[in-house]
Amino acid sequence: MLTEQENERFTRVGRGTPMGELLRRYWHPIAAETEFDDISIKPIRLMGEDLVLYRDEGGTFGLVDRHCPHRRADMSYGFVEECGIRCNYHGWKFDETGRCIAQPFEDSVNPNSRFKDQVPITAYRVATKAGLVWAYLGPEPAPLIPTWEPFTYDNGFCQIAFSDIPCNWLQCQENSIDPVHFEWLHNNWSMVLSGQKGPYAPTHKKISFEEFDYGFGYHRLLENEDETNFNWLLQRLCILPNLFLPRTHFEWRVPVDDEKTLSVVWNYTRVPRDCEPYKQDKIPYWYAPITDPATGRWITSHVINQDTVAWVGQGTVAERNLEHLGRGDRGVIMLRRQLELDMQAVAEGRDPKGIIRDEAANVCIDLPGNRRELFLAGLEREDWLRQFALATKNNPGDYFSLLVGQPPHIREAFAKAVGL
Ligand code: FES
Ligand SMILES: [Fe+2]
Repeated sequence: MLTEQENERFTRVGRGTPMGELLRRYWHPIAAETEFDDISIKPIRLMGEDLVLYRDEGGTFGLVDRHCPHRRADMSYGFVEECGIRCNYHGWKFDETGRCIAQPFEDSVNPNSRFKDQVPITAYRVATKAGLVWAYLGPEPAPLIPTWEPFTYDNGFCQIAFSDIPCNWLQCQENSIDPVHFEWLHNNWSMVLSGQKGPYAPTHKKISFEEFDYGFGYHRLLENEDETNFNWLLQRLCILPNLFLPRTHFEWRVPVDDEKTLSVVWNYTRVPRDCEPYKQDKIPYWYAPITDPATGRWITSHVINQDTVAWVGQGTVAERNLEHLGRGDRGVIMLRRQLELDMQAVAEGRDPKGIIRDEAANVCIDLPGNRRELFLAGLEREDWLRQFALATKNNPGDYFSLLVGQPPHIREAFAKAVGL
């Protein structure tokens, strides 16, 4: 349990707040590269800051203030050129470093003026990796964007799905280190939602947590399993500050502001062996709905939709002063302790846990659990189909088990890649 003041400290993400400063030490995924096949400018709200992400005609991404420094026009209605973004109101133009590079009227009446040098627009670092566009809003020198090992896997069909979540980021991330919820929120609730009354899923007989360089891993053991079982051997990872890696998909909980979160899911599906070699040119993206328009209620059919029901159900910002933690919540306590240590580290000018600055170490970051061996070996078609049927058993015929709403063109591309 936290006090109200502690809860505020953990959940406020604005610039100058302890958590806002901690979060600004890490890169955050904010868009898919393929979104910019169709658009060149996108408004973004990130940690309470209103920004505009653009890709100019030269292919360079920029992330600048939503408002033009001239008279505050909305830069998301600007337009891009070979280099930079131009405000639609009076044509001032800026490059990705924020430098003003043109002021058409001022330039013509006073070509020698140095006015341009005095009016940069706020600009942040932006870069691409794994089909995602990443932003860094912290001080220099910026760390590296981690090359998590699944980013380097081959023979896979990847996709990126976003959802807009109307609650604070931390309650989403606390779900990343919550082993027991699988039994209830996913297994038993899915059974009840399907109209059955039982039997309930096997109960947990043991959970354990361990720390590693970038966060925590947890193992869970069910009553019908022993320690040779996959659930026990392959820990699920809660990576600092806002990332969850259960198996071969990532879930980032990107803080939009104190009351909103962008859920970013990056999923890798290894193709069956008979579809090798498979090479994907571009990683497609989609936006997943979370509300059922027919009822106005949250969608409950898919795994991450179920998680979403739990997150938003805790309130816009969970009132942690009213909670009662038990032994199943040990992971949540570990995460909070680490975040507290990291807020202190940042206040003292040190790096928080999990910051990567060494290029050599970032070629491929191996994660605990021999994941490479498990996921790169691949499966023969029969075994692959068996696993796929198991993963999609709650929504048979659906090709994506995590979120509802996979668009037909991605379904088709997936089917082609895996030979369905
Ligand atoms: S407000 Fe942007 S150029 Fe005038
Ligand atoms: Fe879950």
